[in-house]
Amino acid sequence: LCVRRLSGSQEMTLIEKAREAMQGAYSPYSGVKVGAAIMAEDGTIYSGANVENSSYGLTICAERTAAFKAVNSGARKFRAVAIAMNMEGMAYPCGACRQVLAEFSPEMIVILCDRKGRVERHHLEALLKYPFKLRPPS
Ligand code: THU
Repeated sequence: LCVRRLSGSQEMTLIEKAREAMQGAYSPYSGVKVGAAIMAEDGTIYSGANVENSSYGLTICAERTAAFKAVNSGARKFRAVAIAMNMEGMAYPCGACRQVLAEFSPEMIVILCDRKGRVERHHLEALLKYPFKLRPPS
């Protein structure tokens, strides 16, 4: 795979940023706080949290908040995303977020951590085998 693995300390930093980002969540309906931190190709970290809405379906997940912040800041390639939440278990990214991340870096690493300090690492390609793709018009 063409993605450089993160060093142990880079991974720790990314997980810490994801945990900090949970504080930005707006989730009065579910009470679930999810935080995501994306490391772009140049090492810059962009983080985000979920934003809910009284019209429930308009909710945006932490992963897409972070991805859109990164893209709007000029990043186009992601090395890894770390995801944390304030509930038991691992916050596996939802299907919509997998597709959005895959638009930019299908080979990126997805790092999940629970509240007990357990960590899982997956290639995004393993979590979303066949993303929808279009060739941009030339
Ligand atoms: N949520 C995320 O932020 N990321 C996911 O991958 C799945 C779910 C949020 C959305 C909603 O605010 C809360 O978790 C409960 O579904």
